Amino acid sequence: MTKDPRDPNYDPKDDPKVVTAGEGAKEGKLPNELPPETETITFHQRLERNATLLLVASFLVVTVGGVVEIAPLFYLENTIEKVEGMRPYSPLELEGRNIYIREGCYVCHSQMIRPMRDEVERYGHYSLAAESMYDHPFQWGSKRTGPDLARVGGRYSDEWHVDHLMDPQSVVPESVMPKYAFLADTPLDGAYIGEEMAVHRFVGVPYDDEMIAEARADFLAQADPDSDWDALVERYPGAQVRNFDGLDAVTEMDALIAYLQMLGTLVDFSTFTPVASR
Ligand code: HEC
Repeated sequence: MTKDPRDPNYDPKDDPKVVTAGEGAKEGKLPNELPPETETITFHQRLERNATLLLVASFLVVTVGGVVEIAPLFYLENTIEKVEGMRPYSPLELEGRNIYIREGCYVCHSQMIRPMRDEVERYGHYSLAAESMYDHPFQWGSKRTGPDLARVGGRYSDEWHVDHLMDPQSVVPESVMPKYAFLADTPLDGAYIGEEMAVHRFVGVPYDDEMIAEARADFLAQADPDSDWDALVERYPGAQVRNFDGLDAVTEMDALIAYLQMLGTLVDFSTFTPVASR
């Protein structure tokens, strides 16, 4: 008869240190069907049976883990790799983004392509941290009732977006997306866009004085291809200038489509190579 649990002939029934549930109930002992082979197990059993001790120990573990994760961040100048092509949103795109947030598009759409094969094949290059560095707040989302929109820019024509936003079921019959036709009836004049950009500058977006001073002019110019938009494109490289909704007035529809059409278009992934610097 052996008391060594590693022995093939070991039978816990013969081990006096093992208390089965039946024996335990009879003798008023707590059952421990596992043999107390090592000190660690007895220590852990004590810990698990003492709520206060367990709470204190968990707190210590979480504290150490937290410090190990957070402390290095104080010594790094920047955790976001610089990527060529990224720039702050143009005034019209920024307004479109506000409408995106106001309408809760993020409830059904994510903007975050994960580095997994199925996602990369469907949506394109996985999202980079730098691509949302000017987002306050970020629009990664947490649910995909509809597809990810991180790279939807340029995938459809403006007309498709107008039709789709007016009545999604007209282009995708089985769609559960709500209609947003009222966006085309709501004109925008960009009266406060400069102030809004100043707020974004306050939280770290590098808008300069000129961008803020010209905000309203840029806002109107981007939706009007007949305007003088050279300076706008110089300030916001890659900005697309068009009458996005085909209507005379600048509307919420223009702003939202301008935003959708720029998503994922700023970084040129044909030349992008990630730098493994850390
Ligand atoms: C109730 C959930 C829901 C909400 C809210 C919603 N969508 Fe959608 N969206 C969908 C679904 C489902 C699809 C896929 C079917 C389709 O194309 O309509 C979709 C598709 C899209 C597409 C096409 C994407 C692609 O790659 O084919 C765009 C663009 C889009 N939505 C934009 C928006 C915008 C902008 C808003 C906010 C104004 C919004 N959606 C709000 C559910 C939603």
